Amino acid sequence: MRDQEPLLVDLSDRPAVINPARAKPARDWPPITVSREMIDAQIERLAELPRPANGRRQVMFVHPSAPTPGCGLTPGVQVTLDVLKPGEETIPIRHNSTQVNFCIRGAGTAVVGERRIGFGQYDVWNHPSYVTYRHMNEGKDLQARLTYSNAALLEMMRVHMVEEDPSDTVANVEDDKESAGIDVIERLPTFSIGDDGASLMPYETLINPPSVASATLHWPWLTVKENLDKLDALGESYAGRRLYLLFNPKTEGFNGTTPNFFATITIRPPGITDKPHRHVSSSINYYFRGSGYSRVEGKRYDWKAGDLMVSAPGWAVHNHASDAGDPVYELTIQDQPLNIYMESLLWQEDLSLPVKLLGVNEGFDTNRNAL
Ligand SMILES: [Fe+2]
Repeated sequence: MRDQEPLLVDLSDRPAVINPARAKPARDWPPITVSREMIDAQIERLAELPRPANGRRQVMFVHPSAPTPGCGLTPGVQVTLDVLKPGEETIPIRHNSTQVNFCIRGAGTAVVGERRIGFGQYDVWNHPSYVTYRHMNEGKDLQARLTYSNAALLEMMRVHMVEEDPSDTVANVEDDKESAGIDVIERLPTFSIGDDGASLMPYETLINPPSVASATLHWPWLTVKENLDKLDALGESYAGRRLYLLFNPKTEGFNGTTPNFFATITIRPPGITDKPHRHVSSSINYYFRGSGYSRVEGKRYDWKAGDLMVSAPGWAVHNHASDAGDPVYELTIQDQPLNIYMESLLWQEDLSLPVKLLGVNEGFDTNRNAL
């Protein structure tokens, strides 16, 4: 086979935005809803299949605009629905993508590396990279989980590494490292070459950056709910959002649940309408109580408990409103930590005020202290 030739794209005297559609993400990648009815039908269908060899009854929700490889629900986020019947267990697997797991029905156990997590409905837990895991259903009901992964991004980079039933474990890899004496090598100094901080780092530090353990963490719904319900007391005049970020201290300074995503759980009292705003991070909402609507780039999208929705394509102007009646509970996944780290997180909290680069500029405030 002949080697491929590079393409040459002459950009001289062209507008900086090559494809204007890319600057209108809601047109390029419109909001989309995986309705409760679709999810329920998939749970029933997956439960009726003969047990797959690897134990995973799984369906992926893919946006029609998504490239392959990639297959995201937003460009960088893959979402799957996994079902386990009572008594079933999956074959171990590991990969270099990280995940947020969310139980939407039933209960069970996740064994992630050394950690064993007993989970119930609406519990959240993370899967760090390259740790072997399996799921079990010891209960009497069907178990259904939503899994959010940065596999979409890694697939587009052609580096998503997945191993089914790996024979070694990460603990063994750590042992190898110790026996090879990598950690006992004294680090050669990185040194500054000017007054502005520009420095030179030796190869030995490049191939041995400080290792920081990545833990599996569990946010049980009952504990999260107890704290969340107290935010109701902020009253009608509160201008912020009544939510908690399920924070992983490993992402200190980058506000994440994994290094790539944050997961937040919001309580939205009835009849609340947010101010329109926009951000570079994309947003996927799963509503598990109440109903309402979102307005995205001027178009209205209704939602209700049990719907999974791409509610904010990156940089689309949007706001959400809850109906009268029940308060709304929602789980939101955004690729915010990655964007903070990349210095790409433009955020406009109020459309009449300037855009800010979060993580670099001073961010925004609410009226919470005044209340
Ligand atoms: Fe938003």
